[in-house]
Amino acid sequence: MSVDLNLLKDRLGGRSARIAMILGSGLGGLVDEVEDALRIPYGDIPGFPRSGVSGHSGEFVSGRLAGVPVIILSGRIHFYEQGDAAAMRPALEALKALGVEILVLTNAAGSTRQNLSPGSVLLIDDHINYSGLNPLIGETSDARFTGMTEAYDAGLRAHMRAAAEQADVPLPGGVYMWFSGPSFETPAEVRMARLLGADALGMSTVPETILARFLGLKVVAASVVTNYGAGMTGAELSHAETKDVAPQGGAILARILKAALPRF
Ligand code: HPA
Repeated sequence: MSVDLNLLKDRLGGRSARIAMILGSGLGGLVDEVEDALRIPYGDIPGFPRSGVSGHSGEFVSGRLAGVPVIILSGRIHFYEQGDAAAMRPALEALKALGVEILVLTNAAGSTRQNLSPGSVLLIDDHINYSGLNPLIGETSDARFTGMTEAYDAGLRAHMRAAAEQADVPLPGGVYMWFSGPSFETPAEVRMARLLGADALGMSTVPETILARFLGLKVVAASVVTNYGAGMTGAELSHAETKDVAPQGGAILARILKAALPRF
């Protein structure tokens, strides 16, 4: 099903943006900083994919951040909700049709590294699609053979690093590994992920990156680390912890993004 674009355009009343952002679990706070915000619940937009996950509010927001016109998707549907890796495709196609050129993806993630602690932010330099899934399965055009050599745009990443320096916050780069979820990893899987070169683990972002590159959007992405990976501490993992801790790193990420957006 595709999004009712006419209705969405009507509701937006001529507003447009080059940059769209998808906010991950517990990171919706950025919406409150949007100037001149027009907020449309996904439920008001026929065909717009809706997440049932707590901590994902489900709003399409148009406005300005740091003076830059943006569209923010607060909340995203995940593969694990319905078993559909392409679940976000209608939303991304709608963004493309609205003139968006740059997609900023954010997520909450687990860390595989002792020196990447909860509360910190990681710039995603590259990813490993460990799920075995792909949102382009079933696509018939030759565009399905999408190049992923520079999935995360080098120029936009440089802007993010410069913005972090300006905001005086650390922004290490690293590799994000997609697990399908919704159960968390085992300690053995976390050790494997570290051995394979993953710095962060999560249940989102990779399918959206693949879809966005397929649609010709540039992508930049960052993780807010909410926990050490399973087995790295004595504690069990939980979604409650993800939602609790995400706003800490989320505030740092918000500072970086506000400094970065005017550079994009
Ligand atoms: N693993 C996968 N996804 C996550 C995690 C994790 O440890 N933390 C937050 N999202």
